[in-house]
Amino acid sequence: MHTNQIKDDFPFFKDNDLVYLDSGATAQKPQIVFNAMEGYYKKYCANIHRAAHGLGNKATKEYENARHKVAEFLNAKTKDEVVFVSGATEGINLVAYAYVKENFEHVIISSLEHHSNIVPWQIIGKALHVIDSKKDLHVDLENYESLLKTYPNSFVSLTQTSNTFGVTLPIKEMIKLAHSYGCKVLVDAAQSAVHKRVDVQELDADFLVISGHKLYGPTGIGALYIKEELHELCKPFKGGGGAIKEVSYESTSYMPIPYMYEAGTQNIAGAIGFASALEYMKTIGFDFINKHEKELIEYTHEKLLRLKDVITYSDTKNATGNISFNIKGIHHQDLGILLDKQKVQLRVGHHCVQPTMNALGIEGTLRISFGIYNTKEDVDTFFKALKRAIEMIRG
Ligand code: ALA
Repeated sequence: MHTNQIKDDFPFFKDNDLVYLDSGATAQKPQIVFNAMEGYYKKYCANIHRAAHGLGNKATKEYENARHKVAEFLNAKTKDEVVFVSGATEGINLVAYAYVKENFEHVIISSLEHHSNIVPWQIIGKALHVIDSKKDLHVDLENYESLLKTYPNSFVSLTQTSNTFGVTLPIKEMIKLAHSYGCKVLVDAAQSAVHKRVDVQELDADFLVISGHKLYGPTGIGALYIKEELHELCKPFKGGGGAIKEVSYESTSYMPIPYMYEAGTQNIAGAIGFASALEYMKTIGFDFINKHEKELIEYTHEKLLRLKDVITYSDTKNATGNISFNIKGIHHQDLGILLDKQKVQLRVGHHCVQPTMNALGIEGTLRISFGIYNTKEDVDTFFKALKRAIEMIRG
């Protein structure tokens, strides 16, 4: 398969000549996602789990089929382990309120976490413990084990891949270690699942979150995986229609998970679009994705190395999806603006990881974030534009 063929699947690239290097913020969507969503809205638009009519049945069937496809993507044991949420952030917040709030005092996180894996624990008043990282930003596993020893039976919440630096944690090993100290673990796979095969059973994750829009699907939809054995311990979160068995003025009984967490009319078109994005990824396959993205990362790494005054913060050669850097003496925002003027789109700033930036003593970085549609030509155009921007600033 050639990557230019992949670009043809994405209408976005037909209508403009932008170089898009911001897929970690949101990925572009293939045509089949638009078709699936349009199909729902134009041909069988109805609410789910409520109506006895044929349209309602068709919509319910497609929605539940979407859940099945997400379960298959994550290799969940059953589709009932998959809750549709608005995205990874909502998934983490749900776990905070429905499970962690009553059961834990301490939460252990890595030093690479996105704000969405820091703030929810603060809101519910938990003591946060941050694992030290090494110089190359990889987690210090000895420090991790000493935190587990000091705070056994805690909740551990870890990103699998850093949204900013592309550092990937040895998540399977970390989950195993956490379990040996009686901890439960949430994996934020928002930035990893698009680049690597994520298998919840192999990882033995207790909770795992993904966002549809980073997986070539629509915005406003994502999934929270909850291991079946933990369902009984999870409390209701949002109340409303669809989540309940029976309601009286005195009390309410709830549906089992996942329905207990899907109160109100759901993002039906989003779930259907999300499932078709996962189908699309399946046709491309992780063998191709891994090989292609590794080539792109290594190619970028080589070019970065040759750039004068470049500052990197991690092992860019082995990054997953995202690479961050700065140019000595030039503010990242200035470069971002000049790159935009040359039709190169990438995110600059703190990337919602302010504590990590503070620890590095910087305000922010420029981040290159790849999707399956990017090519070496995109990387060449980016470096040409970057060199021009540096020349313009330095004169
Ligand atoms: N979390 C997204 C990013 O890293 C928005 O850009």
